[in-house]
Amino acid sequence: MSFGAPAPDSVQPATFQFNPENLSRAKEIIGKYPEGRQQSALLPLLDLAQRQHDNWLPRAAMDYVADLLEIPPIRAYEVASFYTMFNKAPVGRHFIQVCTTTPCWLCGSNDVLKAIKDKTGAGAGETSTDGAFTVVEVECLGACVNAPMVQINDDYYEDLDYQRTGELIDALAKGEAPKIGSQIGRKGSQALSGPTTLLEPPKVVVPKKTPAKAKAEAAPDAAPKAKPKPKPKAAAKPKAETKAADTDDGGEAPAAKDEG
Ligand code: FES
Repeated sequence: MSFGAPAPDSVQPATFQFNPENLSRAKEIIGKYPEGRQQSALLPLLDLAQRQHDNWLPRAAMDYVADLLEIPPIRAYEVASFYTMFNKAPVGRHFIQVCTTTPCWLCGSNDVLKAIKDKTGAGAGETSTDGAFTVVEVECLGACVNAPMVQINDDYYEDLDYQRTGELIDALAKGEAPKIGSQIGRKGSQALSGPTTLLEPPKVVVPKKTPAKAKAEAAPDAAPKAKPKPKPKAAAKPKAETKAADTDDGGEAPAAKDEG
């Protein structure tokens, strides 16, 4: 989910360009692609532009990236409008994506939305009046085991309820950096009751010995010695060419001429 509709001209900046640090990063990214395939850097460069521009992508930034990659601007517009991680209109400093798909909904995503609305004044699809928070409803973000959850900018906050969501918003409003991940101290997506499998160190399995191997190890001298390998026979010499071979008709070869 994103702020997908392009912002009106009144808020579109006239120009955009990478700052020196991002320009250097952009060149590094472009350099990863083979000659003639630089347009493959479009996605990471649009992402870089969005991060530089307060988490939204103005038209000027798409034009700038297209120009940098020597592709028509429409190619950048197509990609930016297809992928939902690109915001085409201004968003708040804290971009909150609330998952309301079935597992999160069953675990209380309505309470999460209500807590955000109560704290920020912004409902789904809205930005708070102070411009700090933008809230959107999204489909599954892949953290269902720790439902309900939200993504705020790049981070996930999980195992939320009304109170914990309120505390999270309060901390962000104060400029704090709340702990990411589970808000109830769960490790990863471990079961709520704690680990249920792999509770002991793994056992080392020693392969069984065959009786012959065990006997050989017990009395190494008694072990039957391996038979020496037979020497390979010398390769047979090629037969001397027969006289018959010297004469095509199979008759006797002519006697050598007496040079004396
Ligand atoms: S349903 Fe919410 S993360 Fe999957």
